[in-house]
Amino acid sequence: MLLPRPTRLIRAAGDFTLTATTGVQAPDGIADLLRELVTPATGLPLPDGPAAGAGGVISMRTVDAAQLGAEGYRLTVDESGVRAEAATEVGLRWAVQTLRQLLPEQVYAAAPVRGVPWRLPAVQIVDVPRYAWRGSLLDVARWCHPLPFLYRYVDLLAAHKLNTLHLHLTDDQGWRFEVRRYPRLTEVGGYRAASPAGHARDGRGDGVPHGGWYRQADLRDLVAYAHRRGVRVMPEIDLPGHAQAAIAAYPEFGNDPTRQLAVRTTWGISTHVLNLEPATLAAVCDILDEVVDVFPFEYVHVGGDEVPSAEWAASPAATARAVELGLPRVADLQGWWTGQLAAHLAGHRRRIAVWDELLDRGAPAGATVFAWRGTDRIDAAQAAGLPVVAAPYTHTYFDWAESDDPAEPLAIAGTVPLETVYGFQPGDVLGVQGQLWSEYLPTPQRVLWRAFPRLAALAEVGWSGPTAVDVDGVVPTGPWAEFRDRLTVHLRRLDQLGVGYRPLD
Ligand code: ACM
Repeated sequence: MLLPRPTRLIRAAGDFTLTATTGVQAPDGIADLLRELVTPATGLPLPDGPAAGAGGVISMRTVDAAQLGAEGYRLTVDESGVRAEAATEVGLRWAVQTLRQLLPEQVYAAAPVRGVPWRLPAVQIVDVPRYAWRGSLLDVARWCHPLPFLYRYVDLLAAHKLNTLHLHLTDDQGWRFEVRRYPRLTEVGGYRAASPAGHARDGRGDGVPHGGWYRQADLRDLVAYAHRRGVRVMPEIDLPGHAQAAIAAYPEFGNDPTRQLAVRTTWGISTHVLNLEPATLAAVCDILDEVVDVFPFEYVHVGGDEVPSAEWAASPAATARAVELGLPRVADLQGWWTGQLAAHLAGHRRRIAVWDELLDRGAPAGATVFAWRGTDRIDAAQAAGLPVVAAPYTHTYFDWAESDDPAEPLAIAGTVPLETVYGFQPGDVLGVQGQLWSEYLPTPQRVLWRAFPRLAALAEVGWSGPTAVDVDGVVPTGPWAEFRDRLTVHLRRLDQLGVGYRPLD
């Protein structure tokens, strides 16, 4: 009853029970992770080395096994213990997560559970993910979710073998990333006077200030924690639109330096965007220098979605630059400008990631495109010869309602049902990603309610692909029915973790 479904699983006869004398032979980081994930609920010490007693051993090691790729693993449980092999430690981390799922669901409890035999069924598993990118976007700009929740969220991603946390750190309504050289970005840009009450279309404000931001040191610790679980953290600094908080902090970044804007208090898209002057470009490069210093992941997302070009069209400097560059439209300045960021990031050996609007405005060579405006944007990115992460709102926007039931909590739009997510066929892409924009997700509880179980379905799309296989010797009646049965079991794990997910219909 594993989720995501492994590539191949054979149930063998017998089982193996973890006891106080079961030992662990594994690279240090892997043994530590196993103990972090298994000891709190079981109380088992899982000491290093073969135990003196007859408790058997969990052996995990890296081997020369190119066929397992960067993340795959083999896991065998028999009556003498557990053996896992992978080509990388990342693969062994996923083996640890699978081992945890093979145990009774109480292993997910935060405190010791007594009276449960910690029994593993005998199995032979070979498991290799379908896609290299299995991501989850969390918008911490619209609502600044507390740092401890980000840790918890990383744990949940890892439990589903999702390997990338995309942190949307800045937007019109808030700037959450500490920048030493530009402290007003957080001191001013991190706070707004009010937020919408009810749906944005109702036009009401709550009158309640909201704000917060993350220190670089705290983000570094989060990145290290995520790394130990096989999760990479990709920062997004959304540029040159969705940047009103930055312009409120530094009016000289905007197109009218005499105008003092406020951090935006309504949802939607600000018409105020960064200017394209050399001084602002240099400031943005300084900001990105601090971003790459905190986030070691090779990708940096620079946004680029929903950028109104009216302010540039009205700017003599911008229109002159478009002419000078031979660009047919002023809006195409966005592609040129983003190309400057790509070149700067390439100097740091980083790849640039952008939203799919860049395809219409001259995406920089080699940019990884996040296709969100429908599945046809996946095709458009591929036609442009660019790597693509499939993130279409039709299948992967988990801030959308799950049904049109009036009892659904307030959502930005609707609907993305669980079955639609599970049925998503991304095609030949780098991977998939689920989005949690937070306009209507003001609390961690609401984030988790919207995230699960749809993120579990996406995890399976990303890891297992569409092929139904023979699990536990039972031939599934169909991929959806088989998934739903497995999900029902999986939800008991989420219950143990205290995740308040949306119940199945
Ligand atoms: C987006 O949803 N604006 C990327």
